[in-house]
Amino acid sequence: MDAHLTRRKFLGRAGAALAAFSIVPARVLGANAPSKRINVAMIGTGNQGTLDLRMFLAEADVQVVAVCDVNRASHGYRSEDQFLGREPARRMVEDHYAGLQRSGVYRGCAAYNDFREVLARPDVDAVAIVVPDHWHRVMTVMAAEAGKDIYCEKPLSLTVADGRAMVEAVRRNNVILQTGSHQRSNPRTRFGCELVRNGRIGKLLRIETVLGPWNKVGPAAGWQPTPVPEGFDYGLWLGPAPWAPHHKDRCFYTFRFIQDYSGGQTTNLGAHALDMAQWGNGSDHTGPVEIEDDGSVLPEDGLFNVVQNVKFRARYANGVELTCRTAEEGDKTGAQCRFIGTEGWVETGAGGFFTFPDKLKLERLDRDELRLGTSSNHFRDFLDCIKTRATPAAPVETGHRSASFCHLANIAMQLKRKLRWDPAAEKFIDDEAANRMLSRAAREPWA
Ligand SMILES: NC(=O)c1ccc[n+]([C@@H]2O[C@H](COP(=O)([O-])OP(=O)(O)OC[C@H]3O[C@@H](n4cnc5c(N)ncnc54)[C@H](O)[C@@H]3O)[C@@H](O)[C@H]2O)c1
Repeated sequence: MDAHLTRRKFLGRAGAALAAFSIVPARVLGANAPSKRINVAMIGTGNQGTLDLRMFLAEADVQVVAVCDVNRASHGYRSEDQFLGREPARRMVEDHYAGLQRSGVYRGCAAYNDFREVLARPDVDAVAIVVPDHWHRVMTVMAAEAGKDIYCEKPLSLTVADGRAMVEAVRRNNVILQTGSHQRSNPRTRFGCELVRNGRIGKLLRIETVLGPWNKVGPAAGWQPTPVPEGFDYGLWLGPAPWAPHHKDRCFYTFRFIQDYSGGQTTNLGAHALDMAQWGNGSDHTGPVEIEDDGSVLPEDGLFNVVQNVKFRARYANGVELTCRTAEEGDKTGAQCRFIGTEGWVETGAGGFFTFPDKLKLERLDRDELRLGTSSNHFRDFLDCIKTRATPAAPVETGHRSASFCHLANIAMQLKRKLRWDPAAEKFIDDEAANRMLSRAAREPWA
């Protein structure tokens, strides 16, 4: 911990020097000298971990010193051409740095199976946690206790209780956490939310969110376990989740359709769509007060057991109504969010940026109007905050509240009744069965 605080001060001074002499190129000041780089370790190098790794490698003041994955190397991820795991990730890092050496050789990236070995390294400043959601709480809390700054992928948590524990650990240890809700660093989404927050669409009445459908078909009822592949530490993949027989469709990428590890598209894409809704409605530190199922569909059997067709409605304390549904043919793809006001609307997300009236998107904000930040690169923003200790674009409470909204929705869609939510107490009102779904027991030793 002491070694950590010393390194943090050192990186902070490099950041302060940068801020004071921002006209002088950083390399002249030596801010990117190897000893002053931010040492990053990747935990989880699958589908998204590999993309996040590329973003870190692109930053000159980062040194990726370690990668960690319970899978050594295999196919079986989102698409057939992906061959992922810790060894391909290590190779990617070493090839990247080798290309920057005169010798063309680089061997300085360690590869681990067990993330606890990563957290034990005093030279690691920051970790990126890009593993299935059932691991986010354990790894974030342990990383915070070890004094590491954290980039944790969305949805921040598996349950509301997990999210609150993560907020407390981050605050207690005074570390930076950036949630991977990258819409927070999308200038168009930000501008859209600024238009809404500044009353440019009149009074906000309704928010309509749309989520992409399932993009994988799960094993049908009667599925049989499959052997654990060599080089895959299945026990450490399951970690805090209940023990379950191995099936290849349980683990890589498709974990998001199984309740023990994630919450389906409600949390996967909802973590973007509802996060935009929270931002535009000014609800970063709170949530809805009512939520109810609106005709969602759960699968009847098979390995995938999360809501298949999302459909719910919610209401905020300010009276704004929110609806959410699975995309149908002709809808834009990904996560989309439309704010509807008395004088127009703004729509933003993966499918593009649209306004009504059309010219609204060309307007400029006045000097005295509310602004919602400046970040245009979510990774750069995280790294800058490591140096300056400023609050990142998607801090832990924001990530927690957006993920919580998704969890409330899944609970409402499962219980099929209207639920009243107290965002301050983070409890349902007069519904003990629903309250029991806000947390889950973790398998030892991960409680
Ligand atoms: N920001 C975004 O837009 C975005 C996009 C996709 C995924 N994600 C998020 O990224 C996370 C990972 O999703 P994915 O699609 O990359 O999944 P994935 O299955 O492709 O990759 C996860 C990797 O984590 C590894 N892993 C699991 N347990 C581990 C452990 N204990 N220690 C080390 N490694 C472990 C797995 O072996 C796997 O290689 C999820 O939380 C997901 O929601 C975010």
